Amino acid sequence: MDLTQHRFSGWTVVVTGAGSGIGHATARRLLMEGARVVAVDLLPERLAALADEVGDALASGDLVTVAGDVSVEATVAQAVEAAGDRIDGLANIAGIMDGFLPAAELDDATWERVLAVNLTAMMRFTRAALGPMLRAGKGAIVNVSSEAGMRASAAGTAYTTSKHAVNGFTRSTAFFYTPKGIRCNAVAPGAVATNIEAPFRSEWAQQRLGPFMQATIPGVAQPDQLAAAITWLLSDDASDVSGAILPVDGGWAAV
Ligand SMILES: NC(=O)c1ccc[n+]([C@@H]2O[C@H](COP(=O)([O-])OP(=O)(O)OC[C@H]3O[C@@H](n4cnc5c(N)ncnc54)[C@H](O)[C@@H]3O)[C@@H](O)[C@H]2O)c1
Repeated sequence: MDLTQHRFSGWTVVVTGAGSGIGHATARRLLMEGARVVAVDLLPERLAALADEVGDALASGDLVTVAGDVSVEATVAQAVEAAGDRIDGLANIAGIMDGFLPAAELDDATWERVLAVNLTAMMRFTRAALGPMLRAGKGAIVNVSSEAGMRASAAGTAYTTSKHAVNGFTRSTAFFYTPKGIRCNAVAPGAVATNIEAPFRSEWAQQRLGPFMQATIPGVAQPDQLAAAITWLLSDDASDVSGAILPVDGGWAAV
């Protein structure tokens, strides 16, 4: 590899949830490293703020924004159209929490929304990106899982279920498509300082989870630390890594 080159020069990378937190940091890092980024987010004002940042510091890349709900098929189609004839990388980052609701208190709307945004959207974006990736015989997909994909004591039941499923989706995609040149991996963050909304909507969950969280959660990470891991997995630096669920959690998974 020529280490004088930007890792993502000539690449087109679709990033969901690019308006805030981990997605925002990942989009910035990709732009700094030369990518053309298709940034997708529900909130147009956040995408506008990202576009405003694309000044000299991020000048080596190129930004296109798509405002829409990732769980709606039309948004996927818009992102693919914006990408044009190639998608070299896909970072499925958009996600929402679940109010820490345990099963007995779980309402249908929370369950359906959390699974739609955290899981079904990831499947649809992946399905769409695999078309151009298979034609090129090369591609990299990185999904954002969570510590809640590995344990039950980090979130409510809908979120925990969705992130366990993200791990299965990641491994299955890696199994089927690594032989065709497409790698698929996930990062599993611990606590990260972002705008994700995570109020407790259950008293029992607060009682049950509180002591575990206080005893086990390491310090809160910065979004740039996640972006570093996500871009590594996207890049050719990770050319022999596929099907991995990489904890990026300050050691929480080891507890
Ligand atoms: N922050 C943490 O502690 C933490 C820990 C583990 C995993 N994660 C995961 O990291 C990912 C990113 O979260 P974050 O913490 O950066 O949150 P964030 O809220 O700061 O950023 C998420 C972005 O996704 C967008 N988004 C949400 N729903 C959307 C939808 N339906 N369509 C389009 N865009 C949508 C939001 O507008 C927001 O800009 C999520 O998948 C989350 O589950 C976060």
